[in-house]
Amino acid sequence: MNLFTHVLHILGSGAVAFVSARSLRDPLTRPNTLAGLQLAESGSVPFLEALSARAAAEGDTWLAEKLAKHASDENRHGQIFAHALKQLNKQVIDFKSLAQAQEGKPKEAKPDDRRRSPFFEAYFEGYSQETFKPQNIDWTVFMASTYILELDASRDFVRMAHALPDDPVSVNIRKGMLSVAQDETGHAAYLREALERRLSPAAVTAVIDEWRTRKVNAMLAMVSNLLQKGGKMPELARDGVPIEMTAEPDAASTPVAA
Ligand SMILES: [Fe+2]
Ligand SMILES: [Fe+2]
Repeated sequence: MNLFTHVLHILGSGAVAFVSARSLRDPLTRPNTLAGLQLAESGSVPFLEALSARAAAEGDTWLAEKLAKHASDENRHGQIFAHALKQLNKQVIDFKSLAQAQEGKPKEAKPDDRRRSPFFEAYFEGYSQETFKPQNIDWTVFMASTYILELDASRDFVRMAHALPDDPVSVNIRKGMLSVAQDETGHAAYLREALERRLSPAAVTAVIDEWRTRKVNAMLAMVSNLLQKGGKMPELARDGVPIEMTAEPDAASTPVAA
């Protein structure tokens, strides 16, 4: 990573922390922020479970166990955010029923449009959907790309938790978020260890560097996309009594944990 990228990383992290903390502090944008987190966390579970099965089939029991634990943690994180939404009397939009309801009506925004992420498009630039299927993905690519995301997520969740106000419901949500943050630190740690088990120290540094640079570029892509839309975020939460979540983001298009 060169100095320019490093400076951008620091600026970018600060900007993302500011935006996410603000969107969580504001009661109007809080449900949408929590819904986005729920979708991201739950969406990674099938992918991680499939990877765990592949690692077991390849004889790497250590990795298989870590991935199984990772999958169950992310599942729990999804539930924590679903519960937080429930406390606010909100739930994640059911994209499947939304698609059915829109049959025959003019299409302004397809549910899929809400899921397409300029961030992930830039982060995984040069890789096809096919190479990201759990049966195909290169282990080093998975480990290094996810390591960066988990590491940053652990810090972002702490910042976001402390941005919440002090009413009883928010205090509860904060507790949940801090426990999520702790798990993300653990995920980053095992992924780094997994890289160290397979690569030389110099190769580990090089690959982490590469994915840090990709993350910086992806954040720039995300910010410029947001500016083009005039700062408008997609709607992910709606009013109502929460039902069981049926909307699962395509595991192949969001192959990583938040
Ligand atoms: Fe998570
Ligand atoms: Fe995680």
